[in-house]
Amino acid sequence: MNKLNIAVIPGDGTGPEVTAEAVKVMQAAAAKHNIEIKTTEFDLGGQRYLRTGETLSDETLTELKGYDSILLGAIGRPDIAPGILEKGVLLKARFGLDQYINLRPVKLYPGVESPIKGKGPDEIDYVVVRENTGGVYTGTGGNTLTGTANEVAVQSNVYSRFQVERCLRFAFEYARKNGKKSRGKGEHNTLALVGKTNVLTYVYGLWDRAFNEIGEAEYPDVKREYYHVDAACIYMVQCPEIFDVVVTGNMFGDIITDLGAATQGGLGIAAGGNINPEGVSMFEPIGGTAPAFTGLGQINPLAAICSGAMMLETLGESSAGEDIENAVKWATAEKFESMAAGKMGCSTSEAGDMIAEKITSG
Ligand code: IPM
Ligand code: MN
Repeated sequence: MNKLNIAVIPGDGTGPEVTAEAVKVMQAAAAKHNIEIKTTEFDLGGQRYLRTGETLSDETLTELKGYDSILLGAIGRPDIAPGILEKGVLLKARFGLDQYINLRPVKLYPGVESPIKGKGPDEIDYVVVRENTGGVYTGTGGNTLTGTANEVAVQSNVYSRFQVERCLRFAFEYARKNGKKSRGKGEHNTLALVGKTNVLTYVYGLWDRAFNEIGEAEYPDVKREYYHVDAACIYMVQCPEIFDVVVTGNMFGDIITDLGAATQGGLGIAAGGNINPEGVSMFEPIGGTAPAFTGLGQINPLAAICSGAMMLETLGESSAGEDIENAVKWATAEKFESMAAGKMGCSTSEAGDMIAEKITSG
């Protein structure tokens, strides 16, 4: 029996509701595949901060390094100034655990209606590899003459060759193993770099050079494409089928994956993983805390459930992960009325129950 020690950070807003369903479903898959999952909850986020003034301490960060993986719900609260919890908990975990990849599939599940007319699961099926520990998220900056008419603000976009290379190598490897050709869906495995080489000439110039050098020398079998980020946004809507694996910097990755999520039916179904290929990874729905739905039992847990599937796959438990994926596909095709909170046609816990039962009985 394989034993997995999972840290769970339910967090704020609807985070606890969705992580509870993800754990329920993961336990169902674990039971079927002879895996023992032990979960340990970490009280991090807004309530803890309001109570104690603490965000994520270095001690807790060290403790998290002792787990096989982390499942996170959502972090942030409307009554706490923006940035405190996001930087203090979520980003501190990503940076502190060196989770330099944020893997975000953009995938339309069967039965889910995309807002893009005429595009189905065959067309909306790609993965964004977002660099997760650099760029404007970690560049230095500050404000001077704050609050005056002469105020100046700087927030620099910094990338080292090392950061760019390790992200690109991950993306090339991912494209080689999981690209459309490898999945029997196309003639090539393709990696597209999304950047802004016509304006951010220094930073995306570096990305572009490294992309072509590494691609040519080490991944000649992976087809390379390049799109400016603004054009990529048009194509993600007009012709999403052109994308296979996409790689980009932190900020652009943040933005285009929300657009991608909208095309796949919304944040309720958009899963993600913050990955440290050599260390501890953290899986989380890419959406936020949904304050308007907190505590109502109406939030869609599928993004968290799919994040749990990604976790199991990353931990080498592919059959358990696939079982979850297949049960989710069954639920989106047969059971859900919509991906939107409050309109699913079932409650949050009923959604988790039906998927867990499908796994157990399937
Ligand atoms: C995300 C979120 C975070 C980010 C915020 C909450 C800091 O938008 O995971 O995409 O910008 O990375
Ligand atoms: Mn985001």
